[in-house]
Amino acid sequence: MNAVSVEHVTKVFNTGRADEVTALSDVDLHVGQGEFVSLIGPSGCGKSTLLRLIADLTPPTTGTVTVAGGSAGEARRRQAYGIAFQQAGLFEWRTVARNVELPLELHGAGRAQRRSRAREMLDLVGLGDFAGHYPAQLSGGMQQRVAIARALAVSPPLLLMDEPFGALDEMTRERLQGELLGICAATRTSTVFVTHSISEAVFLSDRVVVMSPRPGRIVTAVDVALPARDEAARQSPAFFAAITAVRQALRGAADGANATTVPAAAS
Ligand SMILES: Nc1ncnc2c1ncn2[C@@H]1O[C@H](COP(=O)(O)OP(=O)(O)OP(=O)(O)O)[C@@H](O)[C@H]1O
Ligand SMILES: [Mg+2]
Repeated sequence: MNAVSVEHVTKVFNTGRADEVTALSDVDLHVGQGEFVSLIGPSGCGKSTLLRLIADLTPPTTGTVTVAGGSAGEARRRQAYGIAFQQAGLFEWRTVARNVELPLELHGAGRAQRRSRAREMLDLVGLGDFAGHYPAQLSGGMQQRVAIARALAVSPPLLLMDEPFGALDEMTRERLQGELLGICAATRTSTVFVTHSISEAVFLSDRVVVMSPRPGRIVTAVDVALPARDEAARQSPAFFAAITAVRQALRGAADGANATTVPAAAS
């Protein structure tokens, strides 16, 4: 059974209105148990929309989304996934610690267990000293790290992450990439991860799914076979080969789109 199956999904916003937008066109995506899949593609190609469809935060116009063998709605109601989205989405009136505790509360964890787990997760993202602060007192990158801690708090079987490291400095980002991989491997978590960084996608993923400019379609998927995901892997020929493959796919997708939208430019 796949962790996620997206089949023939099209998403049109504002159907029939002047501002109608086709965000996704006939998308198929399958994520196996324990697999780490990244989505990469130009801004506005529908990556966040695809993640929101999987999370059942918006319905597909046509096609089906299946999560852990059931509907996306069932998975949402069971809290079968953790999410860390582009905007941190923290509750302003809750302290940092109580934001991280929220999914544990929803899962019925007791107070002592919630506290110790929130502490553990905040230490992991380097925010142990900010447990009692409120989100507005943190920088953007710190807020993102709280959102990551919250997403990981219940060790969900599926993680949906939308540029979770986008606002972080390079060193913090690389450290959290390593931590994330460790957590995913230990818990056999399946992950769908959106990023604009080719090297980040390649380092983290079993498979990098390349999308075309809007309306987003899946152009190709690059399998990444690295012997290990450690610092040496970032210098390995396999790493650079995968980066080149993803870059070429992105370029090909962009050229293809230009060719169809601006035919005059070709002559
Ligand atoms: N709620 C909405 N209502 C109308 N249009 C929307 C809505 N959400 C997204 N869109 C449109 O769908 C398209 C895809 O948006 P989406 O946010 O999925 O892109 P993205 O690939 O995540 O981009 P980025 O890399 O900039 O985050 C865009 O053209 C956007 O304007
Ligand atoms: Mg987005």
